[in-house]
Amino acid sequence: MLCMDIAEFQSRFGAHNLPLSNDIFWDSDLSDFKMNWNKLPPNQFYKDAKVYPFNDYVFKANMIVNRKPKRFLELGTWYGHTSAAVKYFSPETEVQTVCAPVQSGTNNKLANERIGIAFRRINLDVKQVWANTETLDYSTLGGNFDVIYIDACHDYKNVKQDLENCEKIFNDMIILDDYVLPKWNSRWCREQRSYNVGVWKATDEFMRDPERKKKYEAWHIYGTPVAFILRRK
Ligand SMILES: C[S@@+](CC[C@H](N)C(=O)[O-])C[C@H]1O[C@@H](n2cnc3c(N)ncnc32)[C@H](O)[C@@H]1O
Repeated sequence: MLCMDIAEFQSRFGAHNLPLSNDIFWDSDLSDFKMNWNKLPPNQFYKDAKVYPFNDYVFKANMIVNRKPKRFLELGTWYGHTSAAVKYFSPETEVQTVCAPVQSGTNNKLANERIGIAFRRINLDVKQVWANTETLDYSTLGGNFDVIYIDACHDYKNVKQDLENCEKIFNDMIILDDYVLPKWNSRWCREQRSYNVGVWKATDEFMRDPERKKKYEAWHIYGTPVAFILRRK
């Protein structure tokens, strides 16, 4: 896993220019979402990162939109802000998002009627796929996706399985959220905890395979909990 900072990322992959104040990201209707977000403590992650995040949704939406994907897939919907932002800022992109219909046993539990509310409430054309990624039949999704954002269950075995499945159907980039390094690493930016350790472990293990190294570049973006895997051209 290589590392680039935000400036390097932007010079190679495009500037971050989506409007921070857009309602997609700060949404007066979604008081439970805002409350949740505001509970996050001002830890090292926020102090060090300076530019990241005002809202990390803006950062990730920029990453995705700048790839100009024809088809975008998200694993793990929650309120649906990422899919909403992608569809809003890139209306020509086909957007699908997968979420487990039974919330027990999954992270970020939410009542089903709140799942995807961010795109539903403004009638954005985002396809909600109700499925657990452990049992999802990817062949029902209609083919490959240019960009896939893996952000469902963060347990090691789930991330490993999600990566292996997405490897078969991605054209360009896989983005992982909650890729958080151990504290002893100089790139550490927020607490590695039991809920996120699986992302780091599974992703690094996935990329240790020499055959994958030939096919893909893998980067952690310094000061963020974001990693990505890029197919070499
Ligand atoms: C971290 S949140 C996703 C946040 C969302 N990607 C966003 O950008 O706002 C994780 C979501 O994945 C769902 N989830 C957890 N485990 C899952 C699984 N095995 N299959 C499908 N969805 C899952 C949770 O219910 C929750 O909605």
